[in-house]
This record gives sequence, structure tokens and C-alpha cells, in this order.
Amino acid sequence: MANTILVGAQWGDEGKGKIIDVLTEEADVVVRTQGGNNAGHTVHIKGQKYVLHLVPSGILRKKKRCVISNGVVVDPVSLVGEIEGLRKLGVPVDGNLFLSETAHLVLPYHRELDAQRESLKGKNKIGTTKRGIGPAYGDKAARTGLRVLDLINPERFRRQLETKIKENNEILKAFGAKPLSFKKVHDEYRAAGDYLKSFVANTVVLLHEAVRRGDDILFEGAQGTFLDIDHGTYPFVTSSNTTAGGACTGSGVPPHRMDWVVGVMKAYTTRVGEGPLPTENAEIADMLHAMGREFGATTGRARRCGWFDAVATRHACMVNGIDELAVTNIDGLDTLQTIKVCIAYRDGSKQYDYIPNDIEVLGRCQPVYAEFPGWDVPTHNVKKWKQLPSRTRAYLKAIAELTGAELAIASVGPGREQTIFV
Ligand code: IMP
Repeated sequence: MANTILVGAQWGDEGKGKIIDVLTEEADVVVRTQGGNNAGHTVHIKGQKYVLHLVPSGILRKKKRCVISNGVVVDPVSLVGEIEGLRKLGVPVDGNLFLSETAHLVLPYHRELDAQRESLKGKNKIGTTKRGIGPAYGDKAARTGLRVLDLINPERFRRQLETKIKENNEILKAFGAKPLSFKKVHDEYRAAGDYLKSFVANTVVLLHEAVRRGDDILFEGAQGTFLDIDHGTYPFVTSSNTTAGGACTGSGVPPHRMDWVVGVMKAYTTRVGEGPLPTENAEIADMLHAMGREFGATTGRARRCGWFDAVATRHACMVNGIDELAVTNIDGLDTLQTIKVCIAYRDGSKQYDYIPNDIEVLGRCQPVYAEFPGWDVPTHNVKKWKQLPSRTRAYLKAIAELTGAELAIASVGPGREQTIFV
């Protein structure tokens, strides 16, 4: 399968976890390169549901090496919980899971600051997952963060944590929030450090050895293109580069070693948190929620839903260099008579075929729709492209064409077997 970067082509929750799981069959190494436990990748295998937040979903297949690389921000206590959960389910982790020495840590003051900043913003809040992601990346950029290397060095961790807790308690006090106990945080995180020590590695060297051996590496993206700190709907974004370039900086594997980019998108659009969503539509949201679909894997929040936005996915194709598309959740549209697709935005007399950068302009944009006939039959048992209703195939071909990449995978349900290779 060569070295493949997999990205979300919308606002996250595109069903990446399942597509990663499917593609992992062909991979030797699976790498998570950005984000933190704000992500929630759901994988269903033989009736068992697995939700992964930090550990690459490759862990669910035998003999795959899984790497949490330098670009990720890691809450050590949360990672311990996730590893413990996997061990309880009988998933092997020893000798096949590696944690970068230089990944930055998410600590309790990051979570507190995330919550305080959000509540101060009131109705202008971002709608973060409150996992401390923004403040942790903030410390990284300010060069005041603690890294995995520090966590497993008891003396250094104590010293650095003391300074950070002192500084952050002053800030928390100014917010009117409760200060943190150094001892409590120290003891809990040091214990996590001891637990994680055997997983810690120089993952840049490890990945370059894999490249030299000719291993196939899958770089799994978290969140989606429009949550990217540079290319997303700023400030309603996450704090990392969720687009393809993030896989290089977040792993230390250079661009010319990457062979292929796969973009994952739903057959419609969803978003959690605040910020513009041009095709948002109450009717489709009510329909999907009534089907029990579109509730967040990390926070349980009901996702906002809308029609497929080809302006957005075309933009995603451009900034990520997407070669192939995987379209998921096709079965979510099974009961509709008519399906709409946004082909342009209109703001007054101005028409856009790309996403305007000014968030106020984007907020005003009205979608221009094309309509497609629905297929109105269940698709979740379909195994082959030719067996899909002709209207489903026509719809998928049209959205791929509008997006500008090859359609490679059509997914009609959460299971591995509900995957159609086109
Ligand atoms: P943060 O990443 O927790 O700071 O949240 C920033 C924005 O990204 C919010 O709108 C979140 O809802 C969104 N977000 C973060 N992680 C995910 C994800 O895995 N899926 C979808 N949205 C996410």
C-alpha cells in the first residue's frame, strides 16, 4: 500500500477509525501524528465496539506496530486508561506500541484552562472537547511545555511540574478557579510515567528504520481539514495541523517519503462544536439523530448535520493533495427521496467555489444546491460496487467528481465487512 497519509476531508468524525482499520490490513506500521485525546476513533469488530482516543486503531490487528509520534499531545493518565482498557479486552500492546519521547504532555492545568477560557468566552466559545488540547499546544509553541522525556525523568519532572503548577495556579486564581495540588498531580502523573516507560521510544529513528526496510506506513489523521489550525475555520478549529502536512512534521518522516493521500468524508456533513457549517440542516439532523447516529465518540455531544458540501471537500482535496476518497455513512441517506449537494456558496451577489477565509463572510454564505434522486432502499448489506443501487452509485460518483479525486472506498456501515472497494 506504500506510505499513505489518511486525512479527514470535512470537520472531523468522517469515519476515519473504520477506514484506518480497513487499510491497516496492508500496513506494517500505523502512526498517529497530531491531536490528543480530543479524538475518538470508533471501530466495530465482530460485534465488539472499540473507541480509541490516542492509540492508533492499528492496535486492533495482529503484528502491526503502532506509534504515537512527536506531534501528538498526550495526557499520560488518559493513555494509561486506554492501554488498560485494551489489555482487558485481550488486545496485545507490549512490543507493538511506541510513544514518542518528544510528544508534549497534557496536564490537569491545561484542562482547567481550556474550561475556564471557554466559559469566559460565553456565547463566542469554540465548543472544545475540554481535554486541554489548545493550552497544551500553546505551551509547546511558547516553549514552556513538558514532554514525555520529562515525565519519565522523576527529578526533572518534579522540578518542572512545580514551576508550571505555581505559574498556572496564579492564572487559575485570576479566573476565580480552584488551584491545583502539586502533590496530587505529581503523584498521579509520575505513576502514569512509570506505567508508560516501557512504551517510550525515539520514534523518529524507529520510523526511519521502517522507511529504510521498505515497510508500508499508514499515517492516521485525527479531526478533519476544517479543524486545522492553519487551514480550518479559525478560530473554530483545533490546535494542530490536521491536514496532510501535519503527518510529516508530526512524525519526522519527510514529504518525499509519502506516496499517497486518502481523504475520508461522509456522504453528508457533520460538525461538533461551534463555528460556521454552511449546509447545516435541521431536517437531516433530526433524521440522523432519530436513527441513533451522529453522537460524538469522545463527548457524546449530538453532532450538527447538513448536506454534502462539495465546496468544502474540493478545498480539502486541494490543501491535502488527496489522491483517493473513502466515502462513509452512505447508509445514513438510505431513506431519503431527494438528496442535496452544495456546489457553491453565495453571499449577496458574490458566488464562491472555495471556502472564504473571513469567518464572518463564511457565516453569511448560503449554499447553492444541486439535487439528486434518493435510492430509498437499505444499502448496509451490500458487499460489491455493482450491487449498490444505480442511484447510490450515481450520487457517489457525482460527489467524488465535484470533490476532484478518485472514489476508492464506499462504506455502508461501521463493520469491516461493510466496506466496498470501487
Ligand atoms: P479541541 O480540539 O478540544 O480544542 O476542540 C476544538 C474544536 O475541534 C471543537 O469544535 C471540537 O468539537 C473539535 N474537535 C476536536 N476533536 C475532534 C474530533 O475528534 N472530531 C470532531 N471534532 C473535534
